[in-house]
Amino acid sequence: MAEELVVVQNADKEEKYKSLIPQIEGLLYGEEDLVANLANIASALKYGMGFFWVGFYIVKQNELVLGPFQGPIACTRIKKGKGVCGTSWEKGETLIVANVEEFPGHIACSSDSKSEIVLPAFKDGAVQLILDVDSDQLNDFDQVDQQYLTDLMKIVEGKL
Ligand code: SME
Repeated sequence: MAEELVVVQNADKEEKYKSLIPQIEGLLYGEEDLVANLANIASALKYGMGFFWVGFYIVKQNELVLGPFQGPIACTRIKKGKGVCGTSWEKGETLIVANVEEFPGHIACSSDSKSEIVLPAFKDGAVQLILDVDSDQLNDFDQVDQQYLTDLMKIVEGKL
């Protein structure tokens, strides 16, 4: 495992993702513990991309329960269909929300969070966990984030 994350400075986000995702694959190599892997992914995304909040919610007994994350403290349980995370889980779809205040039922864990992207990871056709990335800027996520974070979720799915 690499000892240090190489963070590309003065690059656009696509270049940052291109540098980061192979490093994350390296971090996961040979480690099968899900919590350990999700913890390192959260840290690598937070520090590699400079996001405000990065974390996982894991499906447990028909609720989303807070998993490894980096950033301010967050709500611990989310019901299916509630907020952005619960809606992504229910629909089994990635959601990009440009302005969280305009998303019906958005759960405000931090008033500093302004936009977010949420992606599900599947096993045997069912959502097992979701990745939630929040920004303190409005409209901070687009198809570039979706493309690279979807690639990352495929890597996560390989570890489920
Ligand atoms: N905003 C999310 C809740 C999770 S926190 O932002 C960390 C939502 O509406 O589902």
